[in-house]
Amino acid sequence: MSSNLPVNAARIAEDIDALARLTEPGRPWTRRVFSPLFLEGRAYIEARMRAAGLETRIDAAGNLIGCRVAGGEARAVLMLGSHSDTVPDGGRFDGIAGVVAALEVARSLAERGVALAHDLEVVDFLAEEVSPFGVSCIGSRGMTAQMPETWLTRRNESGALGDALVSVGGDPAVVLRLSPPKIAAFLELHIEQGPVLERQGRDIGLVTGIVGITRFEILVEGRPDHAGTTPMDARADALVAASDLVLKIRDEALRLSRKPSHFAATVGEFVMAPNAANVVPGRVRLLVDARAERRPDMEAFATWLDQAAKNVATAHGAAISPPARVSDSEPIACDPHLFAVLENAAKSAGMTTLPLVSGAGHDAAWIARVAPAAMIFVPSRDGRSHAPDEWTDNDAIARGAAVLFEAVLALDAEPEMTKT
Ligand code: HGY
Ligand code: MN
Ligand code: MN
Repeated sequence: MSSNLPVNAARIAEDIDALARLTEPGRPWTRRVFSPLFLEGRAYIEARMRAAGLETRIDAAGNLIGCRVAGGEARAVLMLGSHSDTVPDGGRFDGIAGVVAALEVARSLAERGVALAHDLEVVDFLAEEVSPFGVSCIGSRGMTAQMPETWLTRRNESGALGDALVSVGGDPAVVLRLSPPKIAAFLELHIEQGPVLERQGRDIGLVTGIVGITRFEILVEGRPDHAGTTPMDARADALVAASDLVLKIRDEALRLSRKPSHFAATVGEFVMAPNAANVVPGRVRLLVDARAERRPDMEAFATWLDQAAKNVATAHGAAISPPARVSDSEPIACDPHLFAVLENAAKSAGMTTLPLVSGAGHDAAWIARVAPAAMIFVPSRDGRSHAPDEWTDNDAIARGAAVLFEAVLALDAEPEMTKT
């Protein structure tokens, strides 16, 4: 039961449900970054931050930040947060659970009159999911001076990313000049988005590290022809070639996934042209999303993919572009000291824990490159996520928020933390 926790489970449920109502009608749950619904969700979160006594601002990277100033001698902040944007037809907990849990920690600290030595910041990071501009973690990378300058001029049918950043309160002229803030510790609660915690009956996942994510764009050029008159043995069907490559990618990823370290590869974007019933497909664009806990596994996959593309091109008489890396991040370990503080907070509260790697990317992966950062997971029902069936029990989120609450108290009291 969550009644004996230092956080209020009912307030958590209220915020989760309020945000879940802000979704594209008929497409639960869709609140895409830069959309009017996303801004409505931010307005709700900002109002709840202010009600919790936090001073709110939007930084140049477009992050919504609620700050509780301590006024003590500590110069580095204790930061909590996650993201409020969703994938299309996604779930109501991915990211949102972390923002709401962080908000609840701030509320509970204020409610109990706890005076911290550190400023406390609750952050809703901008665009953690792959945005309509094809890039993700815009806010956490921008905050920590890890956003490529070229991102600002990326365009889609709505215009340039830099203009979209302005539309949410960011500042393209400033974001590239930002220096990473002084963060004493960053903690992120997130739903597991996998089946492990539920299968093993554990309350809290202690994240050991976050996989590296590399995305490869591949263009397959065949020859558009008449579907009825072109002999079957005289075609250069781009779709058939691309499909062969997709199946080979699946088989290689399956092989690599049987190693002890985490590996996965998915062709999540696949566009064919001209996409007409009576035309032999001429072109296919596919995007491969590969994840590796160990960098050597990613490099081995990249080398394999280059050769596989050549082999398939020859076999099908198609032209296949060398797979181009459109984004690439290395795996990152969570901070061992913060891991231990979170583990102690969970075990002291009588919760069961399990160390596990994150196969999902997170804002914490970018914060971890400039400051001590760690994550906890709470269980996902049936391991489902990035789908309307995504579900996590409110009590589970409350337990996670309680772990964050205790960890913040412990970290704030550590003498070294206040010298930074
Ligand atoms: O793609 C991911 O791993 C995360 O959910 N954005
Ligand atoms: Mn996600
Ligand atoms: Mn997420």
